[in-house]
Amino acid sequence: MDCATLIHFISFLFFFLVLLGSHSHTGAARPPFACDPQNAATKSLRFCRTSLPIHVRVRDFIGRLTLQEKVTLLVNNAAAVPRLGITGYEWWSEALHGVSNVGPGTKFGGDFPGATSFPQVITTAASFNASLWEEIGRVVSDEARAMYNEGMAGLTYWSPNVNIFRDPRWGRGQETPGEDPVVAGVYAARYVRGLQGNDGNRLKVAACCKHYTAYDLDNWSGVDRFHFNARVSKQDMEDTFDVPFRACVLEGKVASVMCSYNQVNGIPTCADPKLLRNTIRGNWHLNGYIVSDCDSVGVFYDNQHYTSTPEEAAAEAIKAGLDLDCGPFLAVHTQDAIKRGILNEADVNGALANTVTVQMRLGMFDGEPSAQPFGNLGPRDVCTPAHQNLALEAARQGIVLLKNHGPSLPLSPRRHRTVAVIGPNSDVTVTMIGNYAGVACGYTTPLQGIGRYTRTIHQQGCANVACTTDELFGGAIDAARQADATVLVMGLDQSIEAEFRDRAGLLLPGRQQELVSKVAMSSKGPTILVLMSGGPIDISFAKNDPRIASVLWVGYPGQAGGTASCRCSIWNSQSRREAAYDMVPTRLPF
Ligand SMILES: *[C@@H]1O[C@H](CO)[C@@H](O)[C@H](O)[C@H]1NC(C)=O
Ligand SMILES: *[C@@H]1O[C@H](CO)[C@@H](O)[C@H](O)[C@H]1NC(C)=O
Repeated sequence: MDCATLIHFISFLFFFLVLLGSHSHTGAARPPFACDPQNAATKSLRFCRTSLPIHVRVRDFIGRLTLQEKVTLLVNNAAAVPRLGITGYEWWSEALHGVSNVGPGTKFGGDFPGATSFPQVITTAASFNASLWEEIGRVVSDEARAMYNEGMAGLTYWSPNVNIFRDPRWGRGQETPGEDPVVAGVYAARYVRGLQGNDGNRLKVAACCKHYTAYDLDNWSGVDRFHFNARVSKQDMEDTFDVPFRACVLEGKVASVMCSYNQVNGIPTCADPKLLRNTIRGNWHLNGYIVSDCDSVGVFYDNQHYTSTPEEAAAEAIKAGLDLDCGPFLAVHTQDAIKRGILNEADVNGALANTVTVQMRLGMFDGEPSAQPFGNLGPRDVCTPAHQNLALEAARQGIVLLKNHGPSLPLSPRRHRTVAVIGPNSDVTVTMIGNYAGVACGYTTPLQGIGRYTRTIHQQGCANVACTTDELFGGAIDAARQADATVLVMGLDQSIEAEFRDRAGLLLPGRQQELVSKVAMSSKGPTILVLMSGGPIDISFAKNDPRIASVLWVGYPGQAGGTASCRCSIWNSQSRREAAYDMVPTRLPF
């Protein structure tokens, strides 16, 4: 090939690559939410002019709406206003520790079969590493924007959950950064900053700190969250429950706060002007919107009987400072409340100004999504090796070594040639990502992680975490007798702790403890106990049992949980770099 041909060939190759490049981004582009440049009738409306200040555009937009149109915009599945070129919008998406499909605003499939699934928040919080929290937020919002650009996700994410995890039985404690107000506050501010970006008034995605406030009971001993009245002293409110929310608004500059189902001192939080209008908006100056928990306005009317008519419930909520209803209640009852004279249209305008301002800060009134910042993000920006590595790194940093007698950890592939891997959580996938998750890019289970280093003998020991029988104990004990070391992966999953499922006690469920003790008694080599859980587990028995050499808490360690538990904590790796990690296996708690 002579030089000219070579140049020709290279330029052809380049052309081909460009073609290929533009081709690999073929997923259906999302049509603009508003101000579509193709729509001659609406593109030049004043609220579409990006050169005007946002508050001017917002006022112009609201001024054009009829009351009937306004009330259809007060709910999560906001209606379209075709005559103004506005399409419908689903406000409810979730991104607690990765883009999630819990809310109807986000779905997986097509170009987006999955998204990076980070460890559950209680695990990531245990790293005490604020720059890690922000970095995870940045990665999650990259993936969220990529999915938004092709119509698979929203831009308003009702995460994080920064309720204080005070009652250890709470089924949703796993979602939170724990019981410490200061840690929860730093977590809130940094995760929110990661999600929302740091570009002045412009938002990458809009985060939401929830659920304000004093919510740590789902369903316990005949009381559920729809009927729970948290009694909170002024001091506890100030020193404990307000701390993470205040940090979220003041330092994280969050675009939204969600009120909760429960009452605080006899008043439903979503109907309490002291909490919403005075504290969040008045004292903390929220630049954003306040949203209800899903159907919580309906709940304080139907379940708590807080008002005698539904119109009063709608009026009380909006007057207290609520701007958006997750659920249909406000779309159904607000107009009648105004008719009855218990609410003014100006109150509705105020609520809409708060939601529409956030939509404008997100660029939703700026025309083509592809022409905007982050408009270039697509399928290739989701589940990238770098993102998946961060999920692994987060698990590695969050895992806590509770006991290491001997020390028995890390194990060595030379001395421990065969390892018995036992327990109901030893080969799990979705258990590792906890709740409010999405579809992970892929998983490495603990069994697979250990299998990369050594020969394994796998035994379930218990059919599931409930572990009601000892049928499978025999096989597990035999495996431990033969192997050079034993790793038991035990703990909880969503059948024990979840939304609407609080725990009845703090011990390992069913006969798990008995399995652990019996296996440890028969083990030829060291016994390592690995616990998956969000809430705390009383493991005094293991602490005091000299046959149990080591205990690791891994929380719900995310999609890479099996790799993380093994690479840094259980195995003494060959490479110098990894050996350096092994010098400090993990930090001791506090
Ligand atoms: C915190 O996390 C970041 C991101 O993974 C990492 O680079 C840094 O070393 C961590 N800091 C500490 C103190 O471990
Ligand atoms: C609450 O828990 C009880 C058992 O303690 C259960 O029977 C009931 O169905 C639960 N309620 C809901 C709504 O899940």
